[in-house]
Amino acid sequence: MSENELYRNTVNQKVVDFLDGYFKPLSPQMGEFRAAAEAAGVPILQRDAERLLLTLAKLTKPERIVEIGTAVGYSASCLALVCPKAEIVTFEKDPAMIIKAEHNLSHFGVARRVTIMEGDAAKLIVKLPVDERFDLAFIDAAKGHYREFFDALIPHMNDGSIVVCDNMLFKARVVSDEYDENRRYKTEVKRLREFIDYLFTLPYADTSYLPVGDGTTISIIDRKKYDK
Ligand SMILES: C[S@@+](CC[C@H](N)C(=O)[O-])C[C@H]1O[C@@H](n2cnc3c(N)ncnc32)[C@H](O)[C@@H]1O
Repeated sequence: MSENELYRNTVNQKVVDFLDGYFKPLSPQMGEFRAAAEAAGVPILQRDAERLLLTLAKLTKPERIVEIGTAVGYSASCLALVCPKAEIVTFEKDPAMIIKAEHNLSHFGVARRVTIMEGDAAKLIVKLPVDERFDLAFIDAAKGHYREFFDALIPHMNDGSIVVCDNMLFKARVVSDEYDENRRYKTEVKRLREFIDYLFTLPYADTSYLPVGDGTTISIIDRKKYDK
């Protein structure tokens, strides 16, 4: 995937560039972290998605956060920095990424509050203790498995908690097959479309679907309805 394709947005690029002109990294060091990750082709969350996620985190002040898809620890570092008391559990299946993430989390002084779980998140989440609960979830990993991740996480989400999913437009491929030339991502696109339809049938999830980043959903979880 070319760098352009990786960071292409799903809405008018001129608008995105204009908005990104107002993007401020959390610190100059975090700006350098983002630049290095982008230069290395690591698919970290886009600038506008970062602002949205961190705004939600600042508003809701989660005590416990779960993330699926650590990569080099960029989004986990952001979340740990804006929620200085929060504990974060983040899942990553690639050991090479984990080594980089551990280094980066230590560098930003947040490693003590971030636990990286190594392996396939779908298999690991179902093994979490039943009483392990979270206030904010960020799903940003294998696009064909979002439903598994979501369904596994819900029993661990508190009432009123928020589940944020990235890549929900997947470079607009979810909207129309014309954006998936050669149908290279046929399976992921099909599964994402099915997941989105599913998300909007759930009585216990109040979901907003926004053209931010690579497409973002924000679901507010109503435990009373889920537990019924
Ligand atoms: C888009 S990157 C995450 C970027 C990160 N959230 C950020 O914004 O800084 C997705 C990561 O998810 C990991 N991943 C993919 N499928 C996974 C799975 N089933 N379980 C755990 N990690 C997975 C990949 O190895 C990759 O590092």
